[in-house]
Amino acid sequence: MTSEVKARAHANVALVKYFGKRDVPLNLPAAPSVSMTLSPLNTETVLSFADGVDDQVLLADVPAEEKFSRRISKYLNIFRDLSGNHRGVRVTTSNNFPTAAGLASSASGFAALAAGAARLFDVNMDIAQLSAMARRGSGSAARSVCGGYVLWHRGEKNDGTDSFAESVAPPEHWDLRILVGVTTTGPKEIGSTVAMERTRTESPYYNAWIKSAHGAAKEAVDAILKKDFEKLGDITEHSALAMHAAMMAAAPPIVFLKGTTLDVFHLARSLRKEGTAAYFTCDAGPQPKLLCQAKDADIIARQLRAFPGIKDVIHCAPAEGVRVETNTTTYCEK
Ligand code: PMV
Repeated sequence: MTSEVKARAHANVALVKYFGKRDVPLNLPAAPSVSMTLSPLNTETVLSFADGVDDQVLLADVPAEEKFSRRISKYLNIFRDLSGNHRGVRVTTSNNFPTAAGLASSASGFAALAAGAARLFDVNMDIAQLSAMARRGSGSAARSVCGGYVLWHRGEKNDGTDSFAESVAPPEHWDLRILVGVTTTGPKEIGSTVAMERTRTESPYYNAWIKSAHGAAKEAVDAILKKDFEKLGDITEHSALAMHAAMMAAAPPIVFLKGTTLDVFHLARSLRKEGTAAYFTCDAGPQPKLLCQAKDADIIARQLRAFPGIKDVIHCAPAEGVRVETNTTTYCEK
């Protein structure tokens, strides 16, 4: 039996956003979404069986907070039930980027945990099943299982078996970059599930937002396959702004965007006017992100780094999918 498993998964940034659930406990999305899996942002998780039935969860080598540990244990129960093995697990996890700051640490975290736990508990899964399993930890984790450019299907079934992500193009298909502007490293003001549910029930724009996401996902995949950068950039910007518009229209409103975030959005527009193609996106946090082509990335990164309110810039490129190593084998999802 495998005694220790090490899993590594990268974060992802959605170009067409997921923001709305058709089922909360299973994290089933109301619409499809499209993302890029990103290097160097990753989570590394090491799992082994503990001596008793209790789990031990360490975050960056320090015992994790109770709430976080409980979430991990509840998630591991899925594997215990599937395998009939009810042993406790020792989980050591670390991110190479700030946790819970709108940089999707839950995506890489649950993708790594799902892949690692499947191997530790010896539960056989193909990539679609693994993605659907990661989804149950955090919706966007479904996408971090896969490498490169990724489509997460909405699916129709109530049990969620048809709501998984798949790679539509590998990392080497297209060398696009995402420049993450770090404005703050503090935790989120509101969790994504609460924000999505409030938007669903309290925003007059929710239905229009979900309707638009269906068409946007199709067009984004098409633009990725054809390497049509302007089209992909337009879709990316529009999806982010439509998502934020929907949540800002909820009562009470949800406003993740800060002054610096919006200023960087205007920076992208002025760069485009001057002939440099940069497009803006932003998730459930204030960090602005710029999508660009590799040839322009260094010059745009320099401008972003010098921008008032930006503390750091993380230069990201397309990454491979989840990788699992045991004492004897290595397995990587392209
Ligand atoms: O996976 P969650 O529940 O953290 O939701 C992520 C939602 C956004 O980051 C705002 C959008 C997305 O598609 O990643």
